[in-house]
Amino acid sequence: MKIKVISSTDRPGSMARKVSDHVAELYQKEGADAEVICLRDFPLLDVVGGKYGKEIPSVEAFNAKVLEADGLVFVIPEYNGSFPGILKVFIDYLPFPEAFEKMPMAFIGEAAGAFGALRSVEQFQMIANYRNALQFPERVFIQRVHKNFSEEEGLTDEFARSLLDSQVENFIKFIDSVKDKDLSQLSN
Ligand SMILES: Cc1cc2nc3c(=O)[nH]c(=O)nc-3n(C[C@H](O)[C@H](O)[C@H](O)COP(=O)(O)O)c2cc1C
Repeated sequence: MKIKVISSTDRPGSMARKVSDHVAELYQKEGADAEVICLRDFPLLDVVGGKYGKEIPSVEAFNAKVLEADGLVFVIPEYNGSFPGILKVFIDYLPFPEAFEKMPMAFIGEAAGAFGALRSVEQFQMIANYRNALQFPERVFIQRVHKNFSEEEGLTDEFARSLLDSQVENFIKFIDSVKDKDLSQLSN
């Protein structure tokens, strides 16, 4: 089972990347083939000027690694009460409409503030909804991320840790339950 953890910002040294590395490790421990895809590596310079609908080899190569996934885990920080702009740029350069059609997705929010990127995740879920993704209902929000997460220990808050463990365990089951199934009757 291929799981891609999308570190959803291009900010150097982001907490999103640190959380994503930790989450990928948790999935690997459960036997999944998990890797982090960091939006810092999105070939932004190649899309400057608005290359929508054009063939851009660097973007296609980046997207291919995402689209081969059986499930995606988005780790999303809060920027100005929303998700980072690079995440929307990335979405706008994915193949339309098929990219996220019936793609299992799970969500983790993380922020310096007290709401743990709840707003960012819910705004992003509106897009996931529009693109017909299969959204896993157990979400995790990491508030005060600098205090509640460390690279050495992972989540330091016991309740948040139990939510993340549960998300990992059950998202794998969720993917298994829909993988290779004919879900055409679910179309809008
Ligand atoms: C452009 C920008 C806007 C931000 N806006 C918010 C915000 O609205 N709410 C919040 O709690 N934190 C905000 N932060 C702080 C982030 O939550 C903080 O950087 C945290 O570490 C998560 O982001 P990271 O994954 O980039 O590290 C902002 C950070 C940046 C760079």
